[in-house]
Amino acid sequence: MKKIELGELLGQMTVSEKVGQLLQLAPMFYKGTITEGEITGPMAEMGITTEVSENAGSVLGSTTASEMIAIQEAYLKTNRLGIPLIFMADVVHGYKTIFPIPLAIGATWDVELAEKMAAISAKEATAAGLQVTFSPMVDLVRDPRWGRVMESTGEDPHLNSAMAASFVRGYQGNPDELAENHEKMAACVKHFAAYGAAEAGREYNTVDMSMRELYQNYLPAYTAALEAGSKLVMTAFNVVDGVPATGNEWLMRDVLRDELGFDGVLISDWGAVKEIINHGTAANSVEAADVALRAGVDIEMMTTCYLENLERLIADGALPVGLLDEAVMRILELKRDVGLFEDPYRGLKGDVDRQQDILSVEHREVAREIAADAMVLLKNDGDLLPLGATGRKMALVGPLATTQDVLGAWSWLGDMKDAVSIEDGMKAQFDQVDVAGAMDTENVTEAEIAEMVRVAQDADVIVLALGESANRSGEANSIATIRLPETQYPMIDAIRALGKPVVTVLFNGRPLDLHGLIEASDALVEAWFPGTEAGNAVADILSGRVNPNGKLPMSFPYTTGQIPVYYNHLRTGRPADAADAQEHYVSQYIDIPNQPLFDFGFGLSYTTFAYSNLELSSDTITKMDTLTISVTVKNTGTIAGKEIVALYVQDIVGKVSRPCKELKRFTKIDLAPGEAVVVTFNLTEEDLRYYKPNLDFTSDPGDFNVFIGTHLQAAFCLA
Ligand code: GLC
Repeated sequence: MKKIELGELLGQMTVSEKVGQLLQLAPMFYKGTITEGEITGPMAEMGITTEVSENAGSVLGSTTASEMIAIQEAYLKTNRLGIPLIFMADVVHGYKTIFPIPLAIGATWDVELAEKMAAISAKEATAAGLQVTFSPMVDLVRDPRWGRVMESTGEDPHLNSAMAASFVRGYQGNPDELAENHEKMAACVKHFAAYGAAEAGREYNTVDMSMRELYQNYLPAYTAALEAGSKLVMTAFNVVDGVPATGNEWLMRDVLRDELGFDGVLISDWGAVKEIINHGTAANSVEAADVALRAGVDIEMMTTCYLENLERLIADGALPVGLLDEAVMRILELKRDVGLFEDPYRGLKGDVDRQQDILSVEHREVAREIAADAMVLLKNDGDLLPLGATGRKMALVGPLATTQDVLGAWSWLGDMKDAVSIEDGMKAQFDQVDVAGAMDTENVTEAEIAEMVRVAQDADVIVLALGESANRSGEANSIATIRLPETQYPMIDAIRALGKPVVTVLFNGRPLDLHGLIEASDALVEAWFPGTEAGNAVADILSGRVNPNGKLPMSFPYTTGQIPVYYNHLRTGRPADAADAQEHYVSQYIDIPNQPLFDFGFGLSYTTFAYSNLELSSDTITKMDTLTISVTVKNTGTIAGKEIVALYVQDIVGKVSRPCKELKRFTKIDLAPGEAVVVTFNLTEEDLRYYKPNLDFTSDPGDFNVFIGTHLQAAFCLA
């Protein structure tokens, strides 16, 4: 249907039918429902009648193709104008084949892998009847207490932007071909805006920052997703500058639609329209509906302020019908753009059975590759790793040794029974593995520890698999102290006391304070939540089948009290400078160092890389020039390996205080032992622009430093 035809359709709709298009319901409200659907938020009694459900515009969280077909068929029999439903859900890091959590995908620094992950997710999800995914989540996060850090790609706007665009490209392909390409789905970038800056890392908490900070660090990744063509945006639960994002006309019309040029569907987060009342900027659901529609929120997710009030507000002249019409038109355009008017089932009623696309061998192989590339080697004393596959008696112990709870918090339909446990992965690659697990990551018992010690005491090497359960991070799972569950520390001490080599494999959804663990480990692998192929990926790393090449997308604080700690910080007027360590009156703690335990960008390899011949094409550039920066990188070890080469820039003097360094470019290379390549980056004046106090986005003449290296000391500019 073309726009004009949609205009004719709009003209035939009653106000009640228009309001219905703005309502989104879970599948349970529909005939033919076989599941309750994905419940990811509060669902107070919604009082939905059959007549209402027959006019709603979209469904949240259906789970299979047959369910979508049943609901759509029943719906189209009763919907007067035959406007099809559109089906949406959270496919965040995989549908059935579950990939590592997004924070781990950020650790790959590999945009091609990120795009491949999203493309496979879309292929599986569309085979199951979905047309929209509520992904990518691109909120910048500097506080690991916040549970949804696992869903982000970390603390840096440049890395987040690159990942955001890759996810969108993977989900959507060419957005102009979405109607024909039934293996692609519409992306919904979220949560606009700055949800990741919740104060104290407490979920749903207040967000408050300068406009300059918002533009400089928090908006870029949303902008990148929109420039990549994301068809939808989801509102954030939090306030922005004191006004709830979901009712924030400045944020949603001036910034999102006018400045960023977004003309697609804006959907509220779950219940966020009604929660404007809780925020205290609407007295009741009438006012909440009014401010949300004026802000340009097109779909109200899982509450009914629009349903209850819009018809009367428009009839009374309190709201112009034009605001309703523009929202409905954007929803109709989305349905047209994904091809629902041509085929409300997007090919799933045809004779092609796409179910074999789901959880295929090929998809699992990609999941295994990404999971291994996402792992970060944090310590490897004495080159303990990689372990030979034979000849060593290995003990695999700990609460993550045997469990299949390795998928992560937003794995939704991913099924743990499909996951490869660490035990299974290790036994597939090592010939002598004795195992002692634990039932619960939160309560490791003395008896379980005793059994671990019994199994480990005769081993040549101990692999200690520990960490968080998946539901200790994710939405509504903030923690106040970023340590392991306390009952794991006696286990760590008991294993350490055996005096044997200990390889620790850590499963977690957030940066943690690794004290008490790092000292007890000869080698430490950050595995995150690796997804369906967890056990095979861990074994690939420990055996050396894959040389670890991940690098941290987020700083690991020295302790909770150091939060927020991030690499691209300002210098302050009294920077702590190692050169004058005696100076007391500087920006420092008296009880811990300023440096995080592990910096953004940190990650070891089984080989070594040497950087040399850093060359600039010029030592000055004008606005017309391109600066070419090249460096030679050589694999100086004996094992092939991938290396992430990153370029940072420091703007030495600006109109505002500028970060001590900022990531500007990165790439990943793969080098055989002894192989060397010249890596080249180009920079222009545009890369040196930043936001001024009046929000002008311009560069200044001046001096800049550039940094390239396998690992740069980040804090306080110790380059
Ligand atoms: C949740 C999340 C959001 C998700 C939505 C639908 O509350 O905040 O990210 O997409 O509800 O499940």
